[in-house]
Amino acid sequence: MGRIVCVANQKGGVAKTTSVVSLGAALAETGLKVLLVDLDPQSSLTFALGIDPDDVEISVTDVLTVGAEVESAVLPAPEKLEVLPATLDLAGAESMLLPVENREFVLRQALEQVGSRYDVVILDCSPSLGLLTINALAAADELVVPLQAEMLSHRGVGQLLDTVADVNRLLNPRLIVRGLLPTMYDGRSTHARAVLADIGERYELPVLGPVPRSVRFAEAPGLGGSILVTSPRSAGAKAYRDVAAALMKAWRVAAPAVKKATRKAPVTKKAAEKSAAEKSAAEKAAAEKTVAEKTVAEKAARKAPVTKKTAAKKTAAKTAAKTAAKTAAKTAAKTAAKPVEAKAVPASKKSTATRATKRAAAPK
Ligand SMILES: Nc1ncnc2c1ncn2[C@@H]1O[C@H](COP(=O)(O)OP(=O)(O)OP(=O)(O)O)[C@@H](O)[C@H]1O
Ligand SMILES: [Mg+2]
Repeated sequence: MGRIVCVANQKGGVAKTTSVVSLGAALAETGLKVLLVDLDPQSSLTFALGIDPDDVEISVTDVLTVGAEVESAVLPAPEKLEVLPATLDLAGAESMLLPVENREFVLRQALEQVGSRYDVVILDCSPSLGLLTINALAAADELVVPLQAEMLSHRGVGQLLDTVADVNRLLNPRLIVRGLLPTMYDGRSTHARAVLADIGERYELPVLGPVPRSVRFAEAPGLGGSILVTSPRSAGAKAYRDVAAALMKAWRVAAPAVKKATRKAPVTKKAAEKSAAEKSAAEKAAAEKTVAEKTVAEKAARKAPVTKKTAAKKTAAKTAAKTAAKTAAKTAAKTAAKPVEAKAVPASKKSTATRATKRAAAPK
């Protein structure tokens, strides 16, 4: 079962959806398989991924209320993401779930169908502590709480953490709070800096980020992607990449794509010596060829005037010179390459062994 991360804060507009998209994209960028789940009737996540909820045939509402298969509802999204989309009718799902037995576990059971297909599942909650958010907390392994780096935006965090304590006790003992994620952080403001310094201590929780305030976040959905592709070198993109790296470190998950990209054969000393020897042998052969050709050509040139017979002789001389030069070059190359070839075998064996050792040592 992949890791399930719930992104929640009942306060509105603190960058929950932005964090789900950006963090999801940052994780997918490393090669992990990521599913995003829209649990907000506003369908902001679905919109942000370029999907019009009006065009969605099977949504998370169908999964939660009529038992539709998750796989049938999942849609491909940009940046190698997949999404379980929401539509406006999700607003009615909570009241439909009320009479259902084990209503807090409906999402968890649904995700069990597809859990093994994904490395990470990220849940985007609505700004409320209603039954859908309780379902998300009951299904999740961990919680990330985005909060604006301003004093007033904290007020709901205590209440959210009380709810987490209840969920831990009654529904999901494995749920942990991975961290607070200060967003829209303006490092130039003394107030924001004071808030950032205070929150970790106040809630005795790890602090991820912070994510800087930037207009690029608002622009990104209109440009058709997350900030990771619309503004890949921005401080905002870097912040979410750093958060993704911190999560992967905590999970002890290696990045498959990055591992592949850096798996170039290392240039060993022996390989470098071999290529240098080959180069000098080729240079020597070329030089000898020029000298041989020049000598034969000079000899031929001395025989004037040029008759039909002498022209034929000249061609023969050229051919002889070429053959002589080729033979000289071959011999020179062989002589230079031989001792290096003998060394090259153990060198390549050694690099295979090094790769195997590295693979065995890499974290699973
Ligand atoms: N770091 C940031 N800097 C500036 N603007 C941001 C940042 N992160 C998000 N925003 C903007 O803030 C607004 C609210 O973000 P978002 O929709 O992600 O919040 P939310 O918590 O999901 O809201 P809701 O509670 O309504 O679901 C959006 O316009 C978004 O573009
Ligand atoms: Mg949202």
